[in-house]
Amino acid sequence: MSALEIRNLRKKFGGLLATQDVSFDVEEHSLTALIGPNGAGKTTLFNLITNLFHADSGSVTFDGKLLTGLSPSQIARLGVIRTFQSARVFPGMTVLENALAGRHRLLQHGLASQLLWLPSSRREEKALAERAMALLELVNLGDQAHRPATELPMGAQKLLEVIRALMAQPRLLLLDEPAAGLNDTETAELSALLRAIQACGVTVLVVEHNMSLVMTIATQVVVLEAGRLIAAGTPAEVQADKRVIAAYLGEEPVA
Ligand SMILES: Nc1ncnc2c1ncn2[C@@H]1O[C@H](COP(=O)(O)OP(=O)(O)OP(=O)(O)O)[C@@H](O)[C@H]1O
Ligand SMILES: [Mg+2]
Repeated sequence: MSALEIRNLRKKFGGLLATQDVSFDVEEHSLTALIGPNGAGKTTLFNLITNLFHADSGSVTFDGKLLTGLSPSQIARLGVIRTFQSARVFPGMTVLENALAGRHRLLQHGLASQLLWLPSSRREEKALAERAMALLELVNLGDQAHRPATELPMGAQKLLEVIRALMAQPRLLLLDEPAAGLNDTETAELSALLRAIQACGVTVLVVEHNMSLVMTIATQVVVLEAGRLIAAGTPAEVQADKRVIAAYLGEEPVA
């Protein structure tokens, strides 16, 4: 069953067609990689799914519900949670506070009980902080929890952004180049984290340039070039696709 159905999406910026008649499905519980050269329209597609930009035409359906006309926050409340290509940690907050900033979708108790600091909301906050710590430990950021987030190296900030997105308990997680700027150790941590996320039943759509990462973790690969979808299939199918090899991977197929 499809979690996300993208149909005939089109977006023009002035004279530039950034998204041209793009259609594909993201299967529930899949880990779908969205690849393509710089300027192919990958980030634009995320902006169209989350309605940060409005499509000129076409539609996006999540879990059978049409997203057209919903605000970005309404879409987030449905469980469609994204990260941004350049890490955006909140300055003036610690690593743990940044992770917890993603939790608002989860809070069961209303603002009044939080303001009054009632035992039920205190318990809830404690459980969420424990969950955030567990996730931070998973990517070796546990001992950094009380440092200002902006003091972390860029790679760690990117991992923190993924943790913050996870704290919102996404049903569909959209990650825009989470491995950019990560060293080899951090990339391995991210790879393990992505597998764990998928194993927990979260559907993932990830924009990624690191081909060895894509080819090892993705169940489906979608390829864009100059705003058009040029291929979609398993990693093996896409690697063997002549248009993909020519357009994106160079003349040499990926080992
Ligand atoms: N807000 C905007 N206004 C005008 N043009 C835009 C805007 N956003 C994106 N574009 C243009 O649309 C095209 C697709 O950009 P997009 O950022 O989606 O590419 P991308 O595939 O994410 O590239 P990269 O790998 O470099 O992140 C580019 O030519 C870009 O300059
Ligand atoms: Mg981009």
